[in-house]
Amino acid sequence: MTSTPELRTERLTIREWDTSDAAAALPVYGAEEVARWLTPEMRAVHDVAAMRSVLQAWIEAQPNLVPPAGRWAIERNEDGRLVGGLSLRLLPPYEEDFELGWQLRPDAWGNGYATEASRALVRWAFDQGVEELFAVARPKNERATATARRLGMEWVGETEKYYGHRLQVFRIRPSDLKRGTAG
Ligand SMILES: CC(C)(COP(=O)(O)OP(=O)(O)OC[C@H]1O[C@@H](n2cnc3c(N)ncnc32)[C@H](O)[C@@H]1OP(=O)(O)O)[C@@H](O)C(=O)NCCC(=O)NCCS
Repeated sequence: MTSTPELRTERLTIREWDTSDAAAALPVYGAEEVARWLTPEMRAVHDVAAMRSVLQAWIEAQPNLVPPAGRWAIERNEDGRLVGGLSLRLLPPYEEDFELGWQLRPDAWGNGYATEASRALVRWAFDQGVEELFAVARPKNERATATARRLGMEWVGETEKYYGHRLQVFRIRPSDLKRGTAG
């Protein structure tokens, strides 16, 4: 069972999702600028009811995931606003590699929140004994690739092995965390 952290950074708290987050999560997952880069099922989040169903499914799945996999909300400390989400999941089809994923509501982009929150989650994952984490991004997803690099992730190549389309692959190991830039 995943022991879910509540991680606090200078500006952010990474915590478990609750179904009462549905209205606040919709500007993240219902935004076309976000959903276009995510898996097809996330493109169907059009309203609060659909968002609540998605959150319910995540919450129910969480205890049965292979640690440290999970999904978490990112809340801003200064006003308690939900600014986005983070995920750690086993990449299909082989389920050997853990993927770190980030999603922020578009009006929260440009503040370093994805980098700051990811750094805390990555540290926590390494403390659980994971030796490396991956991020995958479509070649045109420049914001995602910039976040990966900012975090100190190393570009390892392109592959179609995970989701069947061409993706840039980044990897981070414990020693890489030190190389990341501020945030
Ligand atoms: C990917 C995504 C999370 C990146 O958001 P972001 O805000 O650009 O990410 P970061 O946290 O790395 O922030 C970096 C930006 O904040 C700025 N910034 C401001 N303060 C900062 C700080 N303290 N630390 C770091 N960066 C800071 C940086 O200069 C940079 O701005 P720029 O993009 O204008 O150059 C966001 O675009 C998103 O949700 N995209 C859709 C979903 C998605 O593609 N997810 C990944 C799927 S593979």
